Amino acid sequence: MSEPVLRRPRPDDDQVLMAVDSVAFGWTPPEDGVKSAWQHAHAEPYAWCAELDGGPVGKTAAFSMETTLPGGTSVRTPGVTSVAVLPTHRRRGLLRTLLTRQLTEMAAAGEPATVLTASEGSIYGRFGFGVTTLYARAEVTRSEVEFLPTAPTAGVDLELAELSGVRGDLPGLHEAMRAATPGMTTRPDLVWNDLVADREHDRRGMSKMFTVVARDESGTPVGVVGWRVGSQPAGVPVPASPVRVEMLIAADPAVRMDLWRFVLDLDLTGVVTAYVPPDDPLPWALVNPNAVAVRALSHWTWTRILDLPAVMEARRYPVDGEIVIGVVDDMFEANNGAWSLEVRDGRARVVRSREEPAVRAAIDSWASLVMGTVSPPVMAGAGRLSGHADSVGRLARMLAWPRAPFNDVMF
Ligand SMILES: CC(C)(COP(=O)(O)OP(=O)(O)OC[C@H]1O[C@@H](n2cnc3c(N)ncnc32)[C@H](O)[C@@H]1OP(=O)(O)O)[C@@H](O)C(=O)NCCC(=O)NCCS
Repeated sequence: MSEPVLRRPRPDDDQVLMAVDSVAFGWTPPEDGVKSAWQHAHAEPYAWCAELDGGPVGKTAAFSMETTLPGGTSVRTPGVTSVAVLPTHRRRGLLRTLLTRQLTEMAAAGEPATVLTASEGSIYGRFGFGVTTLYARAEVTRSEVEFLPTAPTAGVDLELAELSGVRGDLPGLHEAMRAATPGMTTRPDLVWNDLVADREHDRRGMSKMFTVVARDESGTPVGVVGWRVGSQPAGVPVPASPVRVEMLIAADPAVRMDLWRFVLDLDLTGVVTAYVPPDDPLPWALVNPNAVAVRALSHWTWTRILDLPAVMEARRYPVDGEIVIGVVDDMFEANNGAWSLEVRDGRARVVRSREEPAVRAAIDSWASLVMGTVSPPVMAGAGRLSGHADSVGRLARMLAWPRAPFNDVMF
């Protein structure tokens, strides 16, 4: 095989890049002629395509995004998107070539980290990405839902709205929730546009997206829920149409619970499916927690730390302490080696150390540890973190964060 040539995508590549995406992911391009977010992404910084045999055969792009860290701080994290290689050219190293160029460029530009959502869980660990948010696919059996008297309510007004009508409120609601949610990314405007387009393709056999907005006493929007309804299942004698919650956004847990109450009480419906944080309070607000069945616990956001001290110093810590950590990073030598993590008043100073590390892990595992996705003893149990149990315990206390990271942005 001749060597691929890497170059920036050009506007006149649009159709051919869409064709690469279409055949790689197995979807039919939208017929409305409206560009989807990923097509626009080819014009963003860090986009590359690989040309071979006279045309593009693979590509990668990145949205400009940020991610919230434990403590509510936010760092720049370009969101890798639209990664595809023609099926006729796969497994010849094109992804590796494209991603290596893209990550190297991001690191040189001083980006602290980069994020992506992976089509398959076995691809990106080898490039130093670690899982930083998980989602639970919850199936709630409506007939078994009874809220405990102690379940919170904010007593908000709920107002039915058209999806296009709430478009202007969505970014503000999302950012309010993001400020309180580690692991959550910004949602690029272009991605909002795709969501609001509510294309047939995205409905996957269900209804249009219905929307209800929660407003506080002053009429300010404080939450939103969007859902679709499917067909009545054959052979079921009682009304039991399935519901899929597409968005459930509220910074205030009591408002969120009001939106849950609403969507779990729709007439003629049966099982309500939603993608929720692994530690969603809903089961604990019900008389019977088993009304919520978690059918899958899956990886969602993957993070590649490019500048380890920048990311570790940006997050906040629950307790003070000191520990020397060891990092293995085959791709970025600047991260490799021993680092002293010193926390005072919840803020960290991370500098090179000549001491023997008390704990060691590869850079992908450090992404999960620093985000607070997985605790150090769990990583030690999985063989991903080495060190004496006392050191692992000390690191666990320093990295602990009360809520699990979560992200609901598809990019
Ligand atoms: C996934 C995809 C981009 C891989 O491209 P590719 O050019 O075949 O990948 P490469 O040949 O550069 O492979 C790089 C490494 O990743 C591994 N890899 C690639 N695809 C993989 C997969 N689907 N599952 C597991 N490992 C995979 C290769 O084995 C190789 O490993 P190694 O270098 O450690 O030996 C391509 O197959 C594709 O477009 N698939 C459909 C769309 C998709 O899933 N895109 C990713 C969106 S997140």
